[in-house]
Amino acid sequence: MKVALTGTPGCGKSEVARELKRMGYRIVRIEELARNFDCVIKEDDEIVVDIKKLAKEFAKTDFDGIVEGHLSHLLNPDITIVLRCNPLILKKRLEKRGWNANKILENVEAELVDVILVEALENKNVYEIDTTTRSVEEVTNIVDRLIKGKDTDKFKPGKIDWIAEVGDKIEEFVSF
Ligand SMILES: Nc1ncnc2c1ncn2[C@@H]1O[C@H](COP(=O)(O)OP(=O)(O)OP(=O)(O)O)[C@@H](O)[C@H]1O
Ligand SMILES: [Mg+2]
Repeated sequence: MKVALTGTPGCGKSEVARELKRMGYRIVRIEELARNFDCVIKEDDEIVVDIKKLAKEFAKTDFDGIVEGHLSHLLNPDITIVLRCNPLILKKRLEKRGWNANKILENVEAELVDVILVEALENKNVYEIDTTTRSVEEVTNIVDRLIKGKDTDKFKPGKIDWIAEVGDKIEEFVSF
């Protein structure tokens, strides 16, 4: 089974993937896949992946495991798990990385308006997990259960509304 673990940068894909690996799951980063299948268009500070070509190549494989990365939902997975994070907290997580203000804003706004979730909704078996107040271990356990077909109703998409939750604090990062 092909599982995509996706979400806006900083939502916790890599942290959770590391724990899932420890549990015995096969994990691959989408960047590694792109290199293996010769689907890297350009690589300087950020890697640009030929996602159409990669999706085609990936479809030919019988990969059984989890692909981690914010483009992984574009690979026609059997299950798509979108990690979410309250934009106010995401901003703090990204600031810790020392990213510049524009890059932080771009990602925080993308999370605010559900960019990755909306893209992922093209897929079947899509779930979203709010990581804001959960530990990495808790999120890992939820992912494990979802892959096993448990709790699937609880994590159906559409329950998260960041715009409502952020309320007036939206002024902290949206420029009108
Ligand atoms: N419940 C949680 N699940 C995952 N990460 C969490 C959680 N709570 C806090 N964090 C923190 O959020 C950050 C997530 O960073 P991580 O590198 O995993 O994000 P990512 O989604 O892989 O981003 P990128 O797309 O840039 O690779 C880490 O600093 C982690 O400790
Ligand atoms: Mg990562």
